[in-house]
Amino acid sequence: MVPPAATVTGAPAPTSTVSGQPVGTLPGPEIKDPAKDTILTPRFYTTDFAAMAAMDLQPNQAELEAICEEFRKDYNRHHFVRNDEFIGAADKLDPETRRVFVEFLEQSCTSEFSGFLLYKEMSRRIKTKNPLLAECFAHMARDEARHAGFLNKSMADFGLQLDLGFLTANKAYTYFKPAYIFYATYLSEKIGYWRYIAIYRHLEKHPESKIYPIFNFFENWCQDENRHGDFFDALMKSQPKTVNGLASRLWCRFFLLAVFATMYVRDVARKEFYEALGLDARQYDKYVIEKTNETSARIFPVVLAVNKPEFWRRLEHLVDNNEALSKVAASGGPAPLQALRKLPHWAANGYQMVRLFLMAPIRSDRFQPAVR
Ligand SMILES: [Fe+2]
Ligand SMILES: [Fe+2]
Repeated sequence: MVPPAATVTGAPAPTSTVSGQPVGTLPGPEIKDPAKDTILTPRFYTTDFAAMAAMDLQPNQAELEAICEEFRKDYNRHHFVRNDEFIGAADKLDPETRRVFVEFLEQSCTSEFSGFLLYKEMSRRIKTKNPLLAECFAHMARDEARHAGFLNKSMADFGLQLDLGFLTANKAYTYFKPAYIFYATYLSEKIGYWRYIAIYRHLEKHPESKIYPIFNFFENWCQDENRHGDFFDALMKSQPKTVNGLASRLWCRFFLLAVFATMYVRDVARKEFYEALGLDARQYDKYVIEKTNETSARIFPVVLAVNKPEFWRRLEHLVDNNEALSKVAASGGPAPLQALRKLPHWAANGYQMVRLFLMAPIRSDRFQPAVR
């Protein structure tokens, strides 16, 4: 998995159009145009590879070696195998559910694939200088490739396929220095874990809402994400500066807020998908955010005060602003006029984000002393 975008000021990703050529001469899946880039769509990352290669892991070498040993075991080697349940499953979805489900598949596939690219590149670039780190990244790239491939096969059930080669070559890459990659990727992995496991457990209790067999795979799948998150936890411990001091406290707050706010706005805008699974998008996100926040306290020096009603009230303002922005975008008209009409909503979003950022955080050592 890979982090959502860093700020919430844009409109939710519009439904992308389906176009492209059939593969080969036989009627096959159509290549799906990647969703138009907005601030809320998954991003592709790059970093300072030389700095990564030079990292001294000594302060937490033993734990990183133990995690690498776990990765070598490759617990999910035989997990992602499609079974007969997939046959005809796509045809059972009504058109509206189908639309939101394809969007979910596309977004997830892009996220997994972007994780694959980053980890793979990391592994390749530091191979000779930092073999332990390189090996860990190679194992994680293996997992993410598997996740992305499995999702892409599901898209093929709907007659669509993401052109991953095109995505690799044409996506814009965002540069983050290593510490920011750690914060963002750690959060993305842990949030991915909580997202997958929450859906899995819900559907275990409500099998009638299991609209597609891919959800049966989520339990083992989320364990991959959990291990990836643990790897970044161990990596940050090996680089104590990343989780100590004033700067790290501010950056951790920023990344927690950016990731939580982005997810909340995006999921509420796509609440129909959660409804199709019998979930309320707001309740689901609240659970995932609370759990991720709690988990993050094991490594981040501070976490957010998600126990305060103010936090949720301000997120709702973001949701309203983004709805208003979408309406302006949908109403058409010349670009300068649109920008003028959007301006107050952008400003309102900025104001809410600043107020959220300024909310007093919770010191992690006071939050969860038992697990630190
Ligand atoms: Fe993944
Ligand atoms: Fe992952």
